Amino acid sequence: STKAVILVGGPSRGTRFRPLSMELPKPLFPVAGHPIIEHCLVAVAKVTEIKEVFIVGYYDETVFREFINYASNAFPQLSIKYLREYQALGTAGGLYHFRDVILKGRPERFFVLNADVCCSFPLLEMLKLFEDKEAEAVMLGTRVANEAASNFGCIVSDAHTKRVLHYVEKPESHISNLINCGVYLFSTECIFPAIRSAIKRRTERPRLLSYPSSENLESSFYQGEDDEDEEKENQVIRLEQDVLSDIADSKEFFVLETKDFWRQIKTAGSAVPANALYLMKAFQTGSKELATPSANIIPPVFIHPSAHVDPTAKLGPNVSIGPRAHIGAGVRIKESIVLEDAEIKHDACVLYTIVGWHSKIGCWARVEGTPTPITSHTTSIIKNGVKVQSITILGKECGVGDEVRVQNCVCLPYKELKRDVANEVIM
Ligand code: GDD
Ligand code: GTP
Repeated sequence: STKAVILVGGPSRGTRFRPLSMELPKPLFPVAGHPIIEHCLVAVAKVTEIKEVFIVGYYDETVFREFINYASNAFPQLSIKYLREYQALGTAGGLYHFRDVILKGRPERFFVLNADVCCSFPLLEMLKLFEDKEAEAVMLGTRVANEAASNFGCIVSDAHTKRVLHYVEKPESHISNLINCGVYLFSTECIFPAIRSAIKRRTERPRLLSYPSSENLESSFYQGEDDEDEEKENQVIRLEQDVLSDIADSKEFFVLETKDFWRQIKTAGSAVPANALYLMKAFQTGSKELATPSANIIPPVFIHPSAHVDPTAKLGPNVSIGPRAHIGAGVRIKESIVLEDAEIKHDACVLYTIVGWHSKIGCWARVEGTPTPITSHTTSIIKNGVKVQSITILGKECGVGDEVRVQNCVCLPYKELKRDVANEVIM
């Protein structure tokens, strides 16, 4: 049988997702009307042989409770459990810590999904490649622009056999534009011994590279805070840096190159392109959830059933309107996410923006970001020689006055914008 693990990280991660992660853990943030993590689950649920899913992270036990209750009803064939790391153990350390739970019932293999990516998760195709090649590991790869590649794990593969020849996490210089999408299928017999040897290597020559000072024997007599921190650091085992290149050297490791969409969800602004990609996918597959196209609805658009949208408002493409949001007459919204209980008054214009929970935008106001090409893999742009966010973000309970113009700003929660602002972080 096959299982699935979704890696969600914890509260010390997702800092680039501020100010939105101040209210809600990133994996629960809604894109295209559903929490980011639900898009992973939808993909997992399509693999009929998967019966068990583990959400692994170091968030508090209660954080995913409500979501798991909801998801267990929505996907009744899946048993969904949260496994909490007592501290950040790293992407491989978490898997290893919970190996007994994962290995229960002797599954031959399991998927691992980074929760913070947005893609079509072609898990069935990965399974097919795994079987065709009698693989021990398969990862999902995609091509990106050469300039973007070194922000990701880079794969050198044999174009013909699809074998992974080399793997380097975020290399200093260019080695390949085929990158790691953060989706894997591992044989249980391959991955746990591979993590085990990485841990062993770590304990046999501890800290030699990163902590030259610890070679000094004297320092081991002091058990200060620094040592505790080093101790924690030492327990972190990362798939990407500590395990994958070994598997590439010694195991049957293959890459499935997807031609479908793929994006990372790191910055808060990256929720806007992710929203667009998942909405377009829903539109292409004829999802019944989307608003019916009309003169004022340019698809794809998601409107929560409890939201109120004036019929003269023009929405789309790529707009999601959350629960109980109120959109007034003559409003124009495009390429944006409007969160729960937000209110947008008549004739306001909202473009390339995330409108936070309970925020209010006055009439004739204009709140906008700047479009970035979907292939660019970044949500920052250079304006007047300064790096600014291309997506405008209003945190929770912000207010924008009537006729005020807000351009390329990130606005922390509870701020009132009474004057025009551009290219600023408003704290
Ligand atoms: N449970 C758990 N414990 N999860 C973790 C931990 C941890 O200690 N650390 C990170 N994660 C989760 C994150 O929430 C995220 O879903 C995933 O693991 C990877 O996060 P990072 O470690 O921050 O890596 P990255 O996103 O910079 O890069 C990874 O993903 C890229 C694709 O998005 C690498 O795999 C790259 O090679 C890859 O290109
Ligand atoms: P559409 O085809 O209608 O999307 O127009 P467009 O292709 O010109 O799009 P663009 O991104 O230039 O502007 C989006 C739409 O928002 C325009 O159609 C304008 O009518 C509308 N718009 C622009 N500024 C404002 C504004 O301040 N208030 C309102 N209510 N609408 C505006």
